[in-house]
Formats: sequence, C-alpha cells, structure tokens
Amino acid sequence: MATILGIESSCDETSASICIDGKIRSNIIANQTVHEKFGGVIPELASRAHQQNIIPTVDAAIQEAKIHKNEIDAIAFTRGPGLLGSLLVGTSFAKAFALAQHIPLIEVNHMQAHILAHFIDDPKPSFPFLCLTVSGGHTQIVQVNDFFDMELIGQTIDDAAGEAFDKTAKILNLPYPGGPLIDKYAKTGNSEKFTFPEPQIKGLDFSFSGLKTSILYFVQQRLSKNPLFIEENIHDLCASVQSRIVSILLKKLKLAANETKIKNIAIAGGVSANSGLRNTLLEIAASENWKVFIPKFEYCTDNAAMISIAGYYKYLQGDFVTQDIAPLARWGIAKN
Ligand code: KG4
Ligand code: ZN
Repeated sequence: MATILGIESSCDETSASICIDGKIRSNIIANQTVHEKFGGVIPELASRAHQQNIIPTVDAAIQEAKIHKNEIDAIAFTRGPGLLGSLLVGTSFAKAFALAQHIPLIEVNHMQAHILAHFIDDPKPSFPFLCLTVSGGHTQIVQVNDFFDMELIGQTIDDAAGEAFDKTAKILNLPYPGGPLIDKYAKTGNSEKFTFPEPQIKGLDFSFSGLKTSILYFVQQRLSKNPLFIEENIHDLCASVQSRIVSILLKKLKLAANETKIKNIAIAGGVSANSGLRNTLLEIAASENWKVFIPKFEYCTDNAAMISIAGYYKYLQGDFVTQDIAPLARWGIAKN
C-alpha cells in the first residue's frame, strides 16, 4: 500500500490530493479569485492566498479520502516551474510535513505532472506517446518515452497558447482567466467571420505574439468606427480567435506525429479543456488513425491529483529528495 499526499501551488490554485495505490481518493482545489480584476495573476497576492489556503485544503483532502494523516507514506510537491513565491509555500509546507511525519519527500515537475495526469484513469497511454501540453505559461510538444523520460521536441518561442487566450480576452474586456470564457462564447459564434493570420514558424515550434498583436490592431481599428463592435460581435470574435489558436496547435501536432511516426497522441494542461481543441483533435484523430487521450476536465487545469499520481510513480522508484531542496521557478521538462 502506498498513500501519497500531493501538493500543488505553482500559480494561482492551491490544491491537495490523496492518491492510494495509483487511485485518486481526493483532489481539493482552492481557486484564487483575487486576481480577476487585475486581468492576470499578481504573484504577491497569489503567494499570500496560498499561505491562507494550504492548511484547510490539505485538511479537506485528508478528510475526503477518509484517512488519518499518519497513514500517509510520502508527500509529493510541485518544485517548479512556476511563480517562486507560490512554489515556496507548497515546498515549505511539504518539507515541514515530511519532517513532522517522518516520511519521504518527493519533488514533482509541474509540466511532467500535467502529462502524467493521463495515468489517473483508464485507458492509459502506452509509451512512447506525444503530448501537446498547453497551459498559461507553456506550449510544448513532448515525446514521452517513459514516466520520467520526456523529450521536448517543440515549444513556443514567445507567448503560450493560454496567454494568447487570456490576452485576447483582455482585449475583448473579458475577465481573467479568459480562456474558459472565450470557449463559452465561441460555442455559438461563426469561426469564419474574421480571419486572423497564421504565424510562419519553421519546424515544431510555435509563436502566438503576432496573433495577439493582430487581434489588438484589428479590434482597435473596428472600435474606432463602431464603439459597440466588441459587444455586437463577441461570439464571432471568440469563435474566430479560438479556431485560429486551435489550428496553429494542431498543425504542429500533426507535423510532430508525422515526423516521429507516433500515433498515440495526448493533450494536457489548462488549454486542453478547450472544446474547440478537443473536438478538432478528435476529427483529426479519425482521419490520421491516431489513438487520442484527452484528460477529464478536472485534470486539465492545475490540480494536485496530477502531483500525487506523479509522486506515486516516483515513490515506486524510491525517488526521494532531502530537506535542502528549494523551488525552481524555471525547470525544463526533460531534466528529471
Ligand atoms: O494549466 P493551467 O491551469 O495553469 C498553468 O500551468 O498555466 O492553465 C491555465 C490556462 C489559462 O491561460 C486559461 O485561460 C486556460 O488555461 N484555459 C483555457 C480553458 N480553460 C483554461 N483556455 C481555453 N479554453 C478553455 N476552456
Ligand atoms: Zn499548469
């Protein structure tokens, strides 16, 4: 029996999860609403909110799993990448908990954990598989050879896909995080109403900053003629932007699949909750003969279930860290 407590605090979600023998027994997420009015995450406020949330969140996770804290065999925490002040809260908590309970401490790479969320439920992907990992801070194509053997084969050279959604939302006067709202409005919009340019980036890398600028100029120009342009066209604007972001992502994923000849294809990270991305991926999968793995909604955006499952696989390997461990704001996916 292995009971793992997972802690996630890399950005603006404080989360705790209990995983027993590879099964998730609880996954409590405290969302921070304090950032909404600022149009983005304010690091100092995030860190303060993590400090307030962490103990009640862990207590709730232990309670929901119907266990006692003395039954926990190891604690896994997000060491990075993320906001340093936020990571420090989870790291310090994990270190103190491990010390007090005399249990091992397990470091987890947040981006690896997004991918390993695919090992929570069945069907689980077999190795090797490709994962398009799309979040607020990252856009990557990863070749996953084994649980902790991952190769980065493509990434964004500027903004992440989630940032493209969030920055577009800001231009359209929608609150942060804008991705889910754009997704919602896009559902009843015409994606062919407006055409936004496709970046010309070679190979498997991505770029989203030019798209953001073109949306900004386009909206400003239309607003100068019609101050109600956004309100009158919000559904079509969202559908058109979303369809372009999705087409950029899936074009590169298709190229990666062709180059590597891998047909097991997964998506992960906050943007993998996007319905346009999920539906278009399924369409391409049918024509390309791919076996696709799409995470449950609750495991797309930041959560500790993915940390506790990653921690479980490290526990099986006896991969522990010592008390002198410090968080890493930047931490590549390929380095374990
Ligand atoms: O993985 P995540 O929760 O946090 C990071 O590690 O960054 O991803 C958050 C990102 C935000 O940019 C948010 O707008 C985006 O995921 N997101 C979505 C959707 N749900 C979350 N983007 C598009 N459509 C969605 N349904
Ligand atoms: Zn994330």
